[in-house]
Amino acid sequence: MKKGTILIKNAAELVTCSGFGPKFGKAMEELHIIPNGAVYIEDGIIQMVGTTEEVERKLTHYPEQVIDAAGKAVLPGFVDSHTHFVFGGYRAEEFSWRLRGDSYMEIMERGGGIINSVRATKEASREELFKAGKKRLDSMLSFGVTTAEGKSGYGLDYETEIKQLEVMKEIDQVHPVDVVKTFLGAHAVPKEYKGREDEFIDFIIEKVLPEVVERNLAEFCDIFCEKNVFSVEQSRRLLTKAKEMGMKLKLHADEIVQLGGAELAAELGAVSADHLLQASDQGIKAMAEKGVITTLLPNTAFSLREHYARARYMIDHKCAVALATDLNPGSCFTESIPLTFALATLYMGMSPEEAVTALTLNGAAAVGRADTIGSIDVGKKGDIILLEFPSYKYIPYHVGVNTVEKVVKNGQLVFDKEKGGILC
Ligand code: NIG
Ligand code: FE
Repeated sequence: MKKGTILIKNAAELVTCSGFGPKFGKAMEELHIIPNGAVYIEDGIIQMVGTTEEVERKLTHYPEQVIDAAGKAVLPGFVDSHTHFVFGGYRAEEFSWRLRGDSYMEIMERGGGIINSVRATKEASREELFKAGKKRLDSMLSFGVTTAEGKSGYGLDYETEIKQLEVMKEIDQVHPVDVVKTFLGAHAVPKEYKGREDEFIDFIIEKVLPEVVERNLAEFCDIFCEKNVFSVEQSRRLLTKAKEMGMKLKLHADEIVQLGGAELAAELGAVSADHLLQASDQGIKAMAEKGVITTLLPNTAFSLREHYARARYMIDHKCAVALATDLNPGSCFTESIPLTFALATLYMGMSPEEAVTALTLNGAAAVGRADTIGSIDVGKKGDIILLEFPSYKYIPYHVGVNTVEKVVKNGQLVFDKEKGGILC
């Protein structure tokens, strides 16, 4: 028996999602399924992938752990590439106002919305943020998420932005789910900067960004590029600076108004542009050409009762679409991957195959990690999920219900529904 080894075998279907870069357009349909499949992992890294017979024939020793996946589908762990999972307080009251007809932007313009969470996040202690964030990550793990992106943006000042990023780092150190950190200092305009948005961008560029870069507190820089928040010009200014300083880029783009965020993402070579409910035809084509991942967040459109982003059009025009939850305390308080699958397939014209690619390999590409996660390929991290059912087709079919039975992270079984849930 060899320590640190694990064999998952007899999978009804091993959905490898094989690939080391994003899948564009038609290629999103390709899942590279191996019937009666097996995967063998050593020290957290996938060493063998094939039919159970092939893998067992090549094995030279007994693995430390064997998981029999008979009757179950096995997939790469999901990558939730857009979340705001560390925040203080909640905004249930605002949700009720929205149900009564107030719009998200109206609430924001009268001083609620993101600013409300900013106040609560400033007031929260590090311990409170840590505890709440970790608990949310536990829940994400139970939905099969093995890597999650997390954004700051509920500080809008030096101390709280840094505090949020530091807390995310601390959670990452103790939690099996890997956290990819994004600096979203330009998430909203703080009250004291109303009408002086350019000065706020100066403040972020001069006072906060250098510290984030120097201390390597985030990999990505993001901005809420939106009417009455930050203009295309302000977004270009901040993101250009962040890029010069070595950061990768993301944008909250064309969510509520068609502002040209998609075009800007293509111009700057952003890794992803997110939301995109209002993205123009031209912007979509430009993103496809430049290889910008189009990250769609159906849970948010659903929660805000907006129409959905044009996933079908994007895929037909050769975009690499990713799907993510956008878990946050305001526009979308849900980490539900089953909901994302349901909406993408039932309302956005995506096939179950495209949705799987969007939540695995293309999600990995949206966090710049398609070379190490997002598929079951030799050399990648051993991040694997087992479903209770024999096919990935049950994910959208069993509408809104969690079908994940087991999660293996870095070659370790960390979640097992049959053993009561999280094991670490
Ligand atoms: O991705 N659109 C801007 N930002 C978040 C919402 C944040 C909030 O409402 O607290 C989003 O939807
Ligand atoms: Fe967001």
